[in-house]
Amino acid sequence: MKTKFFNKSILAFFATFLLGLGYAGAQSPAGSSMQKMTFEELLILVLLIFSIAIALVVLGVITFAVLSIRQVVMKDLETRGVKVETLWGSMMKSLTRVVPVEKEADILLDHNYDGIRELDNHLPPWWVYMFYATIAFAGFYMFVYHVVELDSFPLQGKEYEVQMASAAAQIAEYKKTMGNSIDENTVKFVGKDKAAIANGKDIFEKNCVTCHGKNMEGGVGPNLTDEYWLHGGSINEIFKTIKQGVASKGMIAWEKKLRPGDIQDVSSYILTLQGTKPANAKEPQGEKYTPKK
Ligand code: HEC
Repeated sequence: MKTKFFNKSILAFFATFLLGLGYAGAQSPAGSSMQKMTFEELLILVLLIFSIAIALVVLGVITFAVLSIRQVVMKDLETRGVKVETLWGSMMKSLTRVVPVEKEADILLDHNYDGIRELDNHLPPWWVYMFYATIAFAGFYMFVYHVVELDSFPLQGKEYEVQMASAAAQIAEYKKTMGNSIDENTVKFVGKDKAAIANGKDIFEKNCVTCHGKNMEGGVGPNLTDEYWLHGGSINEIFKTIKQGVASKGMIAWEKKLRPGDIQDVSSYILTLQGTKPANAKEPQGEKYTPKK
């Protein structure tokens, strides 16, 4: 009866496991490793799991056999009056140095407080070893962090700096690749990014003031601070105008001279000056643009 149940539960376990595997494969989102698994890989995985299971069963059988033999041997020794000390027992003894109850009289201290007596027990060696370990660790810590100051064991302050630097490098890398993929459809208003606006201002002052004026009040080109636009006042339309230019009217196509990220920055900078009403502003041109909320 017992063995039958055992077989059934093992079968049930494997069936559940395989079902689960199939389910996970079917459920996993596109691109995950489960879905890309080839038949051979699945076969290898199943075989691997199967062999691990067999190994576990074998290990269980061996353990069971060893334990059974041990029990028989111990019983035999006991009947013959031999006292055996197990490995576990002797280890516990040396780690605790416990005084057996029969010998407690030896370590009983003299004083007696209304019948309450005290034993002079040893400090348990496991505890003492741990205490020594903390001392050793403190020495190691002190040496590594404060004496040699290894790079692989940085103090918190240094660790923070290193992480901030690596994050900054990652952001710079991201911006470099992102910057090149921006176009009039994906451009975003980055008015909250101080660095981007500073960059936009710089670009404007270097390239655009001759025609649009120092404060964008207009000159050869239109006033960029009012709500009236010839080619639309959304961030996407402004980006497109700057990128493609208006060749017939003297506005250069900046595509070749500025990186997409820079055009995004200068477009955003232009929008931050909306409604600033600079002196000598050129009269409105084009149609009124009201931003969509
Ligand atoms: C050589 C002169 C000149 C320079 C330099 C110049 N622009 Fe222009 N820009 C113009 C002219 C002229 C127009 C108007 C085009 C039209 O009438 O359609 C214009 C139009 C624009 C518009 C569209 C305005 C609207 O009402 O739709 C924007 C935005 C703009 N420029 C941004 C810039 C930026 C940014 C720079 C610098 C990177 C720049 N311009 C440099 C002459 C210039």
